[in-house]
Amino acid sequence: MLKGKKIALYVTGGIAVYKVVDLMRTLIKAGAEVKVAMTESATQFVSPLTFQVLSKSAVYTNTFSEDDPERVNHIYFADWADLAIVAPLTANTLAKLANGIADNFVSSALLASTCPVFTIPAMNEHMWENQATQANIETLRGRQMYVMNPDEGFLAEGYSGKGRFPAQERIVDELRLFIREAAVDLPLKGKSVLVTAGGTKERIDPVRFISNDSSGKMGHAVAEAAWESGAKVTLITASSLDVSENITVARVESAEEMYDAVSSRFDSSDALVMAAAVSDYSPETASPHKMKKQDQLTITFKKNPDILKEMGNRKHSSQCLVGFAAETDNIEVYANKKLKEKKADLIVANDVGKKDRGFNVDKNEVIFFSQAREPQIIQLKEKTEIAKDIIDWISEFLN
Ligand SMILES: Cc1cc2nc3c(=O)[nH]c(=O)nc-3n(C[C@H](O)[C@H](O)[C@H](O)COP(=O)(O)O)c2cc1C
Repeated sequence: MLKGKKIALYVTGGIAVYKVVDLMRTLIKAGAEVKVAMTESATQFVSPLTFQVLSKSAVYTNTFSEDDPERVNHIYFADWADLAIVAPLTANTLAKLANGIADNFVSSALLASTCPVFTIPAMNEHMWENQATQANIETLRGRQMYVMNPDEGFLAEGYSGKGRFPAQERIVDELRLFIREAAVDLPLKGKSVLVTAGGTKERIDPVRFISNDSSGKMGHAVAEAAWESGAKVTLITASSLDVSENITVARVESAEEMYDAVSSRFDSSDALVMAAAVSDYSPETASPHKMKKQDQLTITFKKNPDILKEMGNRKHSSQCLVGFAAETDNIEVYANKKLKEKKADLIVANDVGKKDRGFNVDKNEVIFFSQAREPQIIQLKEKTEIAKDIIDWISEFLN
């Protein structure tokens, strides 16, 4: 979502400037191209050199240092960006934005901006609560600029209150939501996507279980990619990985719980992506107490419900069903068999016998098997990228 985005980062003079250095690095790590402009006050807190080195781009601080006769810098800066972020937004610059004042590089470029503007105010609690500040915030919101609410907590002044620069996770969640809202023609807008992830745990007793090596990374990446494409997403996960606020999560443990969670939601979903590694078997009986050491232990297993197969039998033609095949040999044979037997539309097959891909790592190489097309090899790359390919496939299928 942030990949390839041109972000103009406007930094104004609050104590939270140092936190914006880290925010900028997160944006760059997510693939955004960031250029920075700072007010004179902001440069009192962190040197422009820090932003210059980390963004690998010159930092704009002065409206009149026009180094290139071919352009006017503040207009060039405003026009270059796909997205403007003001962080932290001081009470002072907020007041300028609300009143159309253009008396420095930051306020002039922002007044000239036509791209979406996302702002992160941070200030002393009394400054925040001041009627003038609140009125200015309403003005900005009325003009479709996004104004985050600050966090409550320990302030630089030594007491607790509202006005803190928000935690980075919340900034990223709200920013992604803002970008999604601003986007036109998202392929899965109005669609409902159900995703499963992680390796189920089958209890032997209250402290022991049988599971597998699945980390849940692939399923979580698919859920995020579906959300970024505009879908309403529910993730049913047996993994303990974090999930962004934008996604509805159902945490489950066993195959049985996963079955119930999928079954009750499947009929109202447009697509189901079964990325979870669901255990085929579970102990016939789980001991209610911790089992004591014995010379020999025999556990009898029963077969778990085959969720993919059941949903394949239940699905109607407008629904899209995607399964995964994790194999160590004969991938093509097993994947094609699975495609037919489970009545899936797409099987994403991968070789889990190799150390650098598949289970528990960030990368994978997969092959798409579908009824209609020749097998498609997706070369080794980040799971987040493979997730996008899967979502593109689903979008094409549903549309
Ligand atoms: C130590 C210190 C910390 C400050 N922190 C903040 C702050 O967090 N938020 C804010 O709105 N103003 C803060 N100010 C006040 C601004 O720096 C001041 O209003 C300045 O004029 C803002 O200029 P700018 O909006 O052009 O960056 C702080 C000032 C000082 C000296």
